[in-house]
Amino acid sequence: MKRIMLWSIMTFAATGFNAQKSDNSLKKAFQNKFYIGTAMNLDQIHGTDTKSVDIIKKQFSSIVAENCMKSMYLQPKEGQFFFDDADQFVEFGDKNKMFIIGHTLIWHSQAPDWFFTDKNGNNVSSKVLKQRMKDHITTIVSRYKGRVKGWDVVNEAILEDGSYRKSKFYEILGEEFIPLAFQYAQEADPNAELYYNDYNEWHPGKVKTVTQLVKNLKAKGIRIDAVGMQAHIGMDSPSIGEYEKAILDYAKAGVKVNITELDISALPSPWGTSANISDKVQYDEKMNPYRNGLPKDVQIQWENRYEDFFKLFLKHKKNIRRVTLWGVSDNLSWKNDFPIKGRTDYPLLFDRQYKSKPIVGKLIRLAEEGR
Ligand code: G3I
Repeated sequence: MKRIMLWSIMTFAATGFNAQKSDNSLKKAFQNKFYIGTAMNLDQIHGTDTKSVDIIKKQFSSIVAENCMKSMYLQPKEGQFFFDDADQFVEFGDKNKMFIIGHTLIWHSQAPDWFFTDKNGNNVSSKVLKQRMKDHITTIVSRYKGRVKGWDVVNEAILEDGSYRKSKFYEILGEEFIPLAFQYAQEADPNAELYYNDYNEWHPGKVKTVTQLVKNLKAKGIRIDAVGMQAHIGMDSPSIGEYEKAILDYAKAGVKVNITELDISALPSPWGTSANISDKVQYDEKMNPYRNGLPKDVQIQWENRYEDFFKLFLKHKKNIRRVTLWGVSDNLSWKNDFPIKGRTDYPLLFDRQYKSKPIVGKLIRLAEEGR
């Protein structure tokens, strides 16, 4: 009981503190630390979800498209590009002076089948795939040259044990597809920041291969500015120590770290943390225990988890370029359906009524205390 009383007093202080400076916002609080961003879905990009859009404009200094800039949407058929949504996204970013991120040029998932197959349905040659990658990347990156400030060039190509994911890109081109993708992006917009993005990037095996990848690119004179750590986090894993070690290892390799897809799930997880979109688990009641809201004690633990990670990010702010939440409010989160469809999760900073949770005031306070 005492712990809850203490939490309530601290929460009132934080939100009360925050309420006194109602123009306070995450982007103001973090402005000299790192960009604080969010992913945008189509309803936000089209302007129909006005509540979300108000939050994005007030609270965030950076945006990334959750889906509409993936290859299956931008080039659904060879040579047929669809830019309407991506154009609106970049337009929104320009208008609101946001640090705009492109996600993602080369990803094994959400890639249209035509990319890898010839007219007989067989794998294309390495020559053809290289040309298709170059055409895709060059068309898109040149279109937003000078406006999209950073690109997730390659997404999720390395597994936790440090081996390369056996994707079609790897099957046809081997490890070379990664430097090629970065080279094409750099040629298309030499001033854009270029990133490698992945999940579970605190696993030592993955850290080893990703840092080697960074060194190889640098040795070839190919631009890479940061490693994106997606940060789809659970309540118990990873530990702050594991995460901190990875941040420092990437910094030692000579790149910044982007926290690219932050959400913290309070729900039981059938396994550790994964964001491998093809992993799915059967629905089970006991895996969806908080349909009517988080119990107070769980909410306190969840808030502490967010604060612990933001203290870590602030501690290493010189190595961290950006912290992006993977969505605005809980109702919009992919975590409600992953890895189990039809659950009620609470992973983001704004609730299902688009209200800022107490954690927002607490994070603002953390930033303002210069931690
Ligand atoms: O827009 C269609 C809709 O018209 C259709 O009725 C509906 C029914 O299937 O699908 C809708 O598209 C869905 C899209 O999200 C928009 O909601 C796709 O099926 C669904 O696969 C897609 O899921 C996205 C997933 O990536 C796969 O692209 C999630 O929203 C998105 O949060 C998730 O984000 C990924 C990052 O890009 C990379 N890191 C992992 C992260 C989580 O998987």
